Amino acid sequence: MNEPASMPLQQPQIRPYNLALSAAARAELKHQQPRCLWLTGLSGAGKSTLANLLELRLNELGMHTFVLDGDNVRSGLCRDLGMGVEARKENIRRMAEVARLMVEAGLVVIVAAISPFRAERDAARALFAPGQFLEVHVSTPLDACALRDPKGLYRAAREGRIKDFTGLDSPYEEPLEADCRIDTASMALPEAIRCLLQLLQRK
Ligand code: ADX
Repeated sequence: MNEPASMPLQQPQIRPYNLALSAAARAELKHQQPRCLWLTGLSGAGKSTLANLLELRLNELGMHTFVLDGDNVRSGLCRDLGMGVEARKENIRRMAEVARLMVEAGLVVIVAAISPFRAERDAARALFAPGQFLEVHVSTPLDACALRDPKGLYRAAREGRIKDFTGLDSPYEEPLEADCRIDTASMALPEAIRCLLQLLQRK
């Protein structure tokens, strides 16, 4: 399914079952405030690196976490999706729904995905309680990302071997009101991790 048709509607006979154990009770057992930290930005901006280091740090602090990384999720749950506009929308919808389930389970979830469209990021935010979803713009400029080119994808895109590449021939809509901005070309990683920890510690 490279370009899924519009989402099938939920069947009318489906009624969500009210579970007796609340999300708050699950979180209390873990002594933490469940959150979704959503990292958006161009390919090569440093999202996965930040998510990975932050999770290690949170784990040292005794927190229960999970990282939903675009490439990892696309290796399983979203392996049927390509890189066209509709497929990316569906990719983000699934990641947001999984993140929401994990937050209900009591985890601090870090999502690292290009998630290029504002409307889909806003729809993701709308799945969470106020303050539970924090949007981080990993705002490393295109030139710096293309220079790093850790997977050789910018080069492949410029040579016409990949199409619909974000920032080149596929759009990236910057967040207008991100909760935090991190440009990994001008901020060292330890400093960036400190910023993210501070963001998570905010009430
Ligand atoms: S998203 O746009 O749907 O949010 P996601 O973060 O899951 O993207 O996956 C992006 C990853 O797919 C990149 O890290 C890169 O490795 C790979 N990739 C392959 N083709 C493309 C493309 N055309 N544009 C961007 N990333 C691509």
